Amino acid sequence: MSQQLSNEQLIAAAQEFGTPLYVYNADNITAQYQRLTTAFAQTDTKFFYACKALTNINILKHIKSIGCNVDCSSINEVKLALLAGFEPGNVLYTSNGIHFSEIEEAQSLGVNINIDSLSNLEKFGQKFGHSYPVGIRLRPNIMAGGNIKISTGHDKSKFGIPIDQLDKIMALVAQDDLFIQNLHIHTGSDIKDVDVFVKGIEVLFDIIPQFKELSSIDLGGGFKVPYKKGDAETDMPLLAQKVNEAFANHPNPNGKHLQVWFEPGKFLVSASGYLVAEVNVMKENTNTTFVGLNTGFNHLIRPMFYDAYHQIENISNPTGEEKHYAVTGNICETDTFAWDRKIAAIREGDLLVFKNAGAYGFEMSSNFNSRYKPAEVLIKDGKATLIRKRDTFEDILGNQVL
Ligand code: LLP
Repeated sequence: MSQQLSNEQLIAAAQEFGTPLYVYNADNITAQYQRLTTAFAQTDTKFFYACKALTNINILKHIKSIGCNVDCSSINEVKLALLAGFEPGNVLYTSNGIHFSEIEEAQSLGVNINIDSLSNLEKFGQKFGHSYPVGIRLRPNIMAGGNIKISTGHDKSKFGIPIDQLDKIMALVAQDDLFIQNLHIHTGSDIKDVDVFVKGIEVLFDIIPQFKELSSIDLGGGFKVPYKKGDAETDMPLLAQKVNEAFANHPNPNGKHLQVWFEPGKFLVSASGYLVAEVNVMKENTNTTFVGLNTGFNHLIRPMFYDAYHQIENISNPTGEEKHYAVTGNICETDTFAWDRKIAAIREGDLLVFKNAGAYGFEMSSNFNSRYKPAEVLIKDGKATLIRKRDTFEDILGNQVL
C-alpha cells in the first residue's frame, strides 16, 4: 500500500526549503509502479508514465530508474524525457490538436507516436508511408471519468479520431501503405470502474482484424486514486484479470501477439506528492473561520477548477481539537481550497499539508498575481533534495522586454 511521508519529514523539509513547498516521495512512486507490474505479472504490458501529471526532470529520471516508460503530450515533454535519459523507443508521444510540424519533430527524434486526427494521419502517410510505424488515437464514444472536464472518450469529445470514421482511417492506411503498430484510446481520468477499460478493449477487438501489422493496443491512463479517506480506487488485480480474460476470448485473427500499453499519471504520482503551506492569517466571520494560506489556486488549481477534494492536515498541531474551517489562499480572487472542513485547531504560523498533490499540482501552477511558483523537493531513501528552486523576481520578469 502507499507509503506516506511523516509529519516530521514534511516539517523538516519546510524548515529547510521554506513554504509553499511541493514535496514528493520517490519510494511511493516506486511502490505504485510495483503494484501495477505485480497486478499485471501474467500479461505482456508496457507502462508509460503520463508525465503531464508532473514533469520535473528528477521525477522523470526516477521513473526511468524503476524501469517505467514515459508518455508525453507535447514535443517539449518528449525533449524532457530524452534529456532524462529515456531511449526513444520507450517514449510515447500522444498528441492532440497539434500542428503536423510537431509530429515531424517527434518522428525525427525516433519516439513512438499516436496520431489523433485524420488530417495529421494523412500528412504522416504522405511523408513517411510505410517507413515509420505509428499509432492511431481513437475516440471510442465511451463516457468515463470523474467529471466532464476530465472525460475524453465520449461522443462530444475533441480527443481522438471518432471510431465511426474507421472507413476514412482505412482509406488513408491503404492509400499511403501506413504501418499501424498501435491503436490507442484514453477515455478519461478518475476511472474507478474496471469495466470501462474492458469496454474499450471490446471496441478495439472489433477493428483489430483490419490492422495486420498491429503489435500493441494502448488503453491510456485514468486509474482512479483515493482522494478522501474511504474513497475507492481502480482495482488493479481485478482489471488485470479482466484484461487477460478479454484477450483469452479474442485471439488475434492475424496471429500476431499484442502487447497491452497503459499510460498512468495519477496512479504513479498523485499520493506521492504533498503541498506544504503556512498559515498567514486567521479571520473570523459569522459562522465561518477563514484560514488564509501563503498559497492559492496559482499553486494548486484542482479544487477551484474541478471542485476536487484534497485532504488537508495541520501538521503543526495534529492532535489539536478539530474545528470547522474555510481554507483559502492569498490570491486576489476567490480561491477556496475547502469549505467547512474539519481540521485540528489552526493558528497563524501553522503548517498545513495538502495530500494527493503530486499529480496536476505543481504542473498546473502559474505565476498569477505575479507570485512565485513553489520550490519542489524529492525525498528518496530518507534524503530530501531540492529539485526545483523557488522562483525569484527575475523569473517574474522572465521574458518581459524592459
Ligand atoms: N494518457 C492520456 C492520453 C491523457 O490525456 C492522460 C491525462 C493520461 C494518459 C493520464 O491520465 P491519469 O492517469 O493521470 O488520470 N488535470 C486533471 C486530469 C487531466 C488528465 C489529462 N489527461 C486533474 O487534475 O484531475
